[in-house]
Amino acid sequence: MRTTYVSHFGGTPMALLTRPTGGPVSSLAAPLRQPTRWVLNHALPNLMATRAARRGDLQGRLMVGSVGMTPDEVGHVADEVRASGAVHKGFFSYMTASLPVVKEVLSSNDFRTGIFDPGEGRIADLSRWAQDPEHRFGPLEPPSLLATEPPDHTRYRKLVTRVFTARAVEALRERTQAIADELVDSLDTTGPVDLVDAYCSQLPVTVIAEILGVPAGDRDRVLGFGAAAAPSLDTGLGWSSFRRVEAGLHDFDHYLEDHLEQLRRDPGDDLMSRLVAAEDDGVGLDMRELKATAGLVLAAGFETTVNLLGNAIALLRAHPDQLTVLRERPDLWANATDEALRVDPPVLLTGRLAARDTEVAGVPVRQGTLVTTMLAGANRDPDVFEDADRFDVTRENARDHVSFSSGRHYCLGAALARMEGEVGLRTLFDRYPDLELQPGARRRTTRILRGYDRLPARLGAPA
Ligand code: HEM
Repeated sequence: MRTTYVSHFGGTPMALLTRPTGGPVSSLAAPLRQPTRWVLNHALPNLMATRAARRGDLQGRLMVGSVGMTPDEVGHVADEVRASGAVHKGFFSYMTASLPVVKEVLSSNDFRTGIFDPGEGRIADLSRWAQDPEHRFGPLEPPSLLATEPPDHTRYRKLVTRVFTARAVEALRERTQAIADELVDSLDTTGPVDLVDAYCSQLPVTVIAEILGVPAGDRDRVLGFGAAAAPSLDTGLGWSSFRRVEAGLHDFDHYLEDHLEQLRRDPGDDLMSRLVAAEDDGVGLDMRELKATAGLVLAAGFETTVNLLGNAIALLRAHPDQLTVLRERPDLWANATDEALRVDPPVLLTGRLAARDTEVAGVPVRQGTLVTTMLAGANRDPDVFEDADRFDVTRENARDHVSFSSGRHYCLGAALARMEGEVGLRTLFDRYPDLELQPGARRRTTRILRGYDRLPARLGAPA
């Protein structure tokens, strides 16, 4: 049986991740499996994109160039995509940056996440052979929510949303505030401080560790797993990052098995303990499904909210007039968080495969075709957002962005991320009203996940 998966966050036709199908494999050749996986899933797509970019292909330019692009430059590529029509034909897939069309694709039953069938042939055989016999399930492979579709997805999602309720998130607000207060108190006010390291990454990881019921003593370990495995949401990884990601997923998988067993035996007051016990018609999630959910919550919660905080800090510092507005109207912090998510979203794009022959905005799309939905582009659709390139914390429809996707895979952590963004940003700027960024800010080298990897700042006197 052949089952092949494509990273739908940024999927390329070559991003082939097949489940192990068994069969005799020469032990001599086994060490070549990992490099082969990397070549098929990352190096080759990278090469194809680089060539396409050289030819001026918009999709290639976006894939290869997005790393160094500012949010406005990404917005300009989106303008070109939109100028070529509601649906643009890129070098390996259709692409759209129109907000209504993005929503249409993400909500349609004619499209699905994940599964890409390379058909018969050498590449398909090679990708099957290259699978890790000790395959660990990453956040973009079934049974992760992000890679399953109804009826499985409906069942997982029902159980998980029963635990991740709005009330549960509100209950975390107080704790998040306490963590943010502790963190701002611990910042060094004497010299430059890297806000990503000291603040933006610390806040979400501590919150996620609480959700997962990770004991305080294990937090640094889990932080390490998160840092190692989080780029698994990305595409076009270099060889050493790819190896680190696989090792991170492997270690996290082992850790989770023990941790979840522990929560089953001795449940705590955390959301994960509740998920372990949750049942629908007497059926709960099995160990594989629980591990996939916990892994996704760790990777999604860790690697995206850090970017939300960093991107928003950089935007606010670049627009001091907006900070003045927020000082006068602190009730706008929630809206400012959404406006930052709109202008510089942590997830550049996602994609869906046509489950059957269909059409998008009048363009016929054959079964199996990938449609890339450019979330960052849709967020600047001038038909939806007036003066779309302007960063405006008072914008009335700032929340209409698609940074958390749309449809049945709409981000499960959206309320949590919004709350963390609002609390985290307000607490930092209230305490350090004179905070100034210093030279040396550096963006991450990931393509799909966009954010800062360093954000040096001088905090000034605390208020
Ligand atoms: C600013 C922060 C965040 C952003 C921008 C973000 C973005 C996204 C996006 C774009 C998707 C859907 C991808 C697609 O449609 O292909 C998604 C799904 C998901 N996110 Fe988030 N996320 C964030 C924070 C979080 C947090 C904190 C959690 C954990 C509690 C989380 C958990 C999830 C889960 C479980 C899914 C899968 C939902 C499903 O497939 O049904 N996210 N997120």
